[in-house]
Amino acid sequence: MKNKEAHIHTMIDQFDRSQFRQDLIDWFYAEQRILPWRENQDPYRVWVSEIMLQQTQVDTVIPYFHRFMEKFPTLEALASADQQDVLKAWEGLGYYSRARNLQTAVQEVVAHYDGKVPDDPRHLGNLKGVGPYTKGAILSIAYDRPEPAVDGNVMRVLSRLLLIDEDIAKPAVKKMFESLVRELISTDDPSAFNQGLMELGAMVCTPKTPACMLCPVQHHCRAFAEGMETELPVKKKQKKQKRIPYISLLIKDKQGNVLIEKRPEEGLLANLWQFPMVPLLDVDKHHLNNWFYGEYGLHIKTGEQIEHINHTFSHIIWEMDVLDARVMGGALDKQHAWFVSPDSLHDYPFPVSHQKILKHI
Ligand code: ADE
Repeated sequence: MKNKEAHIHTMIDQFDRSQFRQDLIDWFYAEQRILPWRENQDPYRVWVSEIMLQQTQVDTVIPYFHRFMEKFPTLEALASADQQDVLKAWEGLGYYSRARNLQTAVQEVVAHYDGKVPDDPRHLGNLKGVGPYTKGAILSIAYDRPEPAVDGNVMRVLSRLLLIDEDIAKPAVKKMFESLVRELISTDDPSAFNQGLMELGAMVCTPKTPACMLCPVQHHCRAFAEGMETELPVKKKQKKQKRIPYISLLIKDKQGNVLIEKRPEEGLLANLWQFPMVPLLDVDKHHLNNWFYGEYGLHIKTGEQIEHINHTFSHIIWEMDVLDARVMGGALDKQHAWFVSPDSLHDYPFPVSHQKILKHI
């Protein structure tokens, strides 16, 4: 890495930084997309948008952002909201810890910073869920501070511009890109500089087929000069996700009410709701009814398979066979599990995998 860093510094020294800043910023002002979080510099709006935009595409985020701002127009409104309402507003966006952490952090801002999003990097970075990327995005976009906001898109753009073949999946390499941005960033307009890098990554310097012929900084780009743009960035493959088989049960009682349960307060999909899931790694499916009686206190009779759902998370894949089932006897004896009427199901936040079961009701 040491040699590489020296190499990168040589690259930067040969790089026309001031012309690059100018070209990037001019292009950003001329070509930027009109996006709802760009209407003003309100740090709360910038914050919410940056959290939503992690792991989620702009087109998907836009309607969620509008609805979220209608429901929780201010930091105080979000801080005092019921967590279930926040999760409901996030329903379908995935990575729900983002929503829970955001609310926790906003509550901290109300309690300790008089409701004002801190502009001090250390205070801001100590808030729950505010990592180096989000911190830099808020500081630069809302507060015009020259701080790096480096995500995968920015690393792709910079890998190409400076012909860097380091593995962008490595945390040390991300840190290196952050120091690099500190050297490149415009101190006159850090907001447009960082957003320009993001916009370039989204609109021009795309992963598979970058539009180099339309690129405003093509003449700065070392990868383009060497014909290497599609070889970069280098990103080592993640480990394959582990597959976990389940049977999910759509269980109705005699009145037609449906059994749902709240997931635990910690871990994957915390505090969201779901239909009961039988883990087939632990339970022999021929003993499903017995297992169910032991766990839930209900005798059930399973019927048809109504669906097969695969759902991929960052580290695991759920493989769910969904079965219809009826209650034959017993009494429900499980914490956080309830029979609810089909009409009221829509009041509960479900993860996407279980929303797919909902449509069979
Ligand atoms: N991706 C991450 N942050 C973004 C922003 N502020 N605008 C557009 N795309 C983004």
